[in-house]
Amino acid sequence: MMSALEWTQEFSKAVNRLTEASVEDYYNPYRAFQWPDEIKPASLWMSRELLSIHGTAVERDIPPERLVELSRWESVNLYSLIAHGIRELLIEVMRRIHTPGYEIPTPYFHHFIGEENEHMWFFAEFCLRYGGRIYPDRRMVFPAAERSPELNNFIVFSQILIFEQIGDFFNARMAADPGLPETVREVNRIHHRDESRHIAFGGQLVSALFNQVKAGHSADAVRDVAGYLRRYIDLIIQMLYSVDAYRDAGIASPSRFRATVLADPARQAVHDRITERTVSFYRRIGLFD
Ligand SMILES: [Fe+2]
Ligand SMILES: [Fe+2]
Repeated sequence: MMSALEWTQEFSKAVNRLTEASVEDYYNPYRAFQWPDEIKPASLWMSRELLSIHGTAVERDIPPERLVELSRWESVNLYSLIAHGIRELLIEVMRRIHTPGYEIPTPYFHHFIGEENEHMWFFAEFCLRYGGRIYPDRRMVFPAAERSPELNNFIVFSQILIFEQIGDFFNARMAADPGLPETVREVNRIHHRDESRHIAFGGQLVSALFNQVKAGHSADAVRDVAGYLRRYIDLIIQMLYSVDAYRDAGIASPSRFRATVLADPARQAVHDRITERTVSFYRRIGLFD
């Protein structure tokens, strides 16, 4: 099934290097966190510029206490999204580990699976301890199209990479924001450190899979995949606007509120910033124009 796939020397070297880095950086997540009874100070839990209302007309009128509530529930939404996304990506990596064609990346898959299980644990732990809930998975499912195994592999590992790059946009900024409580910075900092390796691995893997796709598929099939991944990027952006979070923050008519902030013209530039790393990656490998 994957026997046609030629892994380059460069890819093998990256796998070895990242496997070693995972061993070196290994920590016990069940001991790494303090988990205070409550998060102090009682200020924003998410950087102001990362909130879904940032830059909009709504932001100018929101009372400070409401903004603090919103930052709490939007962080619960972000970590819930990450926890659900991890479950889905683990299922796909599990399907492939130790199967024919994946002999070269398999050693790294073990670290990836182990680390992601731990990430899912600490993000869920944060949500349950400090929010009392994890929001349900609200992903829309795309209609399943008949695709070759090469296209499917490329799509699956692209979805993992895109999800990790967008999550990391938030984690890196929150880890570095001195205005956030230490517990919040800590979960973001630890995740950001592990994700740097996953994203480096994902970039190498997706590039290798794309070479295989280009070799065996028409320009139309490649364009179809580009459209699919663009819709996936949009879907992740949409999920950052959560009716559950707006409702828990005490906002009246949360669905209408969501439609209003999502349609605010100031948000387009923010979406472009969030997706910049992903879009330039897919331009560089030649999928997006
Ligand atoms: Fe992760
Ligand atoms: Fe990851």
